[in-house]
Amino acid sequence: VRQQIIALLHDNIRNIADFPQEGIQFKDITPLLNNPDTLELTSQVLARPFRHMDIDYVVGLESRGFLFGTNLAQDLHAGFIPIRKPGKLPAETLSATYDLEYGTDTLEIHRDAFSEGDRILIHDDLIATGGSATAAAELVEGLGGKVAGYSFIAAIEALEGKKKLPGGAPVEILLQL
Ligand code: PRP
Ligand code: MG
Repeated sequence: VRQQIIALLHDNIRNIADFPQEGIQFKDITPLLNNPDTLELTSQVLARPFRHMDIDYVVGLESRGFLFGTNLAQDLHAGFIPIRKPGKLPAETLSATYDLEYGTDTLEIHRDAFSEGDRILIHDDLIATGGSATAAAELVEGLGGKVAGYSFIAAIEALEGKKKLPGGAPVEILLQL
């Protein structure tokens, strides 16, 4: 059954050629959100591996990591913490800057979002190079949290982003694209 669900989810991610730039194939998850069955199934299969892991908070990465992140948190009876692009969070933040192919990007988290030693699940829709998820892990660890796992709907397998993630915690990826 799980394999059938995964296949259904796979069929509801579409490739958009040349977006946002020529030569890039954009992985669009809006069909997955658009369909009530895949919307519900995605949340269920995302939560499953972490049900018995005692997660205190799910951290979701702006913006597509917000779409399923709060659902995932609810399913695990955890709190939800947004990691945002610079200048969006109103209270005191910690920032992490990471390298892109050209230039850098920054992500921020509220410094008072959780307590030292809390167990955090990092969630995003997609792992490509792994740069953003690695920065998220740095932020969590920088505030004394324990990264208890990583959850992604999909990975761009060829980019091997999973290898970049700080080791130790389980990494769950539903679909390899
Ligand atoms: C995309 C995607 C992940 C990230 C993955 O987000 O949603 O967050 O890139 O790439 P990486 O593994 O190479 O870091 P994007 O920056 O396009 O922004 P969005 O979620 O706000 O659409
Ligand atoms: Mg994103």
